[in-house]
Amino acid sequence: MEQATRRGRFIVFEGIDGAGKTTQIELLAKHLQAAGRRVYRTAEPTESVTGGLLRDALSGVSRRTAAEMAALFTLDRIFHNVNPVNGIEKMLADGVDVICDRYYYSSLAYQGSETDAEWVRAMNINCPEIRRPDICIFLDLTPEQSMERINRNRVTHEIYETEERLERVRRQFMTAIEALRESDNVAVVNAASTPEQVHAEILSVVSPLLGL
Ligand code: TYD
Repeated sequence: MEQATRRGRFIVFEGIDGAGKTTQIELLAKHLQAAGRRVYRTAEPTESVTGGLLRDALSGVSRRTAAEMAALFTLDRIFHNVNPVNGIEKMLADGVDVICDRYYYSSLAYQGSETDAEWVRAMNINCPEIRRPDICIFLDLTPEQSMERINRNRVTHEIYETEERLERVRRQFMTAIEALRESDNVAVVNAASTPEQVHAEILSVVSPLLGL
């Protein structure tokens, strides 16, 4: 008898600058692949037309209000979910694990602090075409630790990556996570230790979801 394909798992990474999202996504993807799973790595904003509009606004090429940004991120996220070629839903249905760099937690943290946060939350959470992740891993770092890493790893760094800004963004993420406490599975992982230690902690929260 033919076995139905087992759905993939949907894992989101969030974190402030310098928290090591890229490194940890890489390590988790390798781990899952080594365990024989298929993995699809993706990110928001996406490569869609809407993603292009978002990048123009993020880089200052065009000006958008916070509500416009929140709506555009939501539209981009819907496309990210339902795109029949390589959308999140399609991948999961094919049995592929999806690892996504940023998702609606970022909308709530960034846009939610500049426009009506409850509207941003509801627009994402109540949207029938925006899937809830199996788990969101928030890589947490104090602003001092973050600045230290940024200064160590980059020749130049953007002027706005100040400690105050990092502190504000971290607080916004904590507020966003709190607002989603009832509906979402979020693991706050201390990202201050070595990449291997952080990876081990991530595995301890992800493994129970995988049935490995
Ligand atoms: P980018 O440079 O593509 O990635 P990263 O900072 O993760 O390396 O930047 C994405 C930017 O988009 C980042 O500044 C956060 C912002 N963003 C939002 O404001 N709202 C959202 O919903 C998402 C997904 C991202």
